[in-house]
Amino acid sequence: MRMYDIIKKKRDGGELSTEEINFFISGVTDGSIPDYQISALLMAIYYRGMNVRETCDLTYAVRDSGEKLDFSAIDGIRVDKHSTGGVGDKTSLVVAPIVASFGVKVAKMSGRGLGHTGGTVDKLEAIEGFRTTLSEEEFIAQVNRIGLAIVGQSKQFAPADKKLYALRDVTATVDSMPLIAASIMGKKLAADDDCIVLDVKTGSGSFMKTAKESKELARLMVDIGKNAGKKMVALITNMDRPLGYAIGNSLEVIEAAETLKGRGPADLTEVCMTLAGYMLSLAGKGTPEACKELARRAVADGSALKKLLETVKAQGGNAALIEDPEKFPKAKYARAVKAPRSGYLTETDAEAYGLASLTLGAGRNTAEDSVDFSAGIVLKKKRGDYVSAGEEIATLYSNDASAFPAAEERLLAATQIGNEKPEDEPLIYGIVE
Ligand code: URA
Repeated sequence: MRMYDIIKKKRDGGELSTEEINFFISGVTDGSIPDYQISALLMAIYYRGMNVRETCDLTYAVRDSGEKLDFSAIDGIRVDKHSTGGVGDKTSLVVAPIVASFGVKVAKMSGRGLGHTGGTVDKLEAIEGFRTTLSEEEFIAQVNRIGLAIVGQSKQFAPADKKLYALRDVTATVDSMPLIAASIMGKKLAADDDCIVLDVKTGSGSFMKTAKESKELARLMVDIGKNAGKKMVALITNMDRPLGYAIGNSLEVIEAAETLKGRGPADLTEVCMTLAGYMLSLAGKGTPEACKELARRAVADGSALKKLLETVKAQGGNAALIEDPEKFPKAKYARAVKAPRSGYLTETDAEAYGLASLTLGAGRNTAEDSVDFSAGIVLKKKRGDYVSAGEEIATLYSNDASAFPAAEERLLAATQIGNEKPEDEPLIYGIVE
């Protein structure tokens, strides 16, 4: 079999066989296929797409490219949640402790931020001392003991996805439905959870720009998971605007902790309660509506916050930061972004806000870049709010003051102010069960 022929077949709109897909992924994993041929096939898939059978084969090949996790030593039902990636998306930090506070096991493997989107592992590492690498024994023992552990992915876990994702990121081939589905579900199937709730983001700050495309992606991933014996639900949620007010690692941890203290922003709280409701429901705790109510109660009575504190302590993190966010190290510099005119905020484009945060040092341009944990943006106003000329609409934070002009320019270019209050947008576009 020759990689040249596989690229040509897909370039011309052909359907790849299972053997061809397995040949491709095993060559990606063992390094025998050069990056230029991998990239060429990725671009051909981007343009020509893949049918359901090809996407399933690609998913299974990614799953089988490395070690599979065995969670059989974990007692009880294991539930996971995965977001397709967004701006200000700190939902995992809120929903995982809520769900674990009911005795449902959350053995979570999370990713790092890339491009304009953030990642849970970076956020957790903003907590001084927090260890995102645990041995398999430590991980399983912690989940059995307190119900929750969150770690990054090891090198041996779905290695083909690591290679493919790095190349997709630099060849403009991330936003392809079969490639996203195989990447996410390949990793989900290599882990050993019983139930998975997917948060499929839609809009400018996500990889799928329309609700229709996002629903299609959600359907595809739910079907792949169900075929593999998992209980699955996907929520389609709005990512045209940043979620909550905070963008950037420690800023988002603070907002997540505030949400667990019952003082979270309305949009973030609603998405988190809905996600937690579906996770609890899949785990057999009742209907999604009843479980959403349980989730609210776990916040109101402090048990979810207690679970987060327990988890932070168990993984070596400084829990005092969660109790008193004032103790988080602050960025050296802050700059207020002021409204250029009076009126209603009609546009606050999530992707551009994410890129502005990246410019401030909160994200990485390449997988090797380091992250400034205290950098980012705190919005003072959200879409639909009224602002007076000169009023602060956001505060930028960075340890590099020279980053402010470019970040401010980006943020202002992505913010529109009009005379009419814009209509509310849906927060949740649909559920795929
Ligand atoms: N998250 C992933 O893990 N993979 C993708 O392709 C997109 C988002």
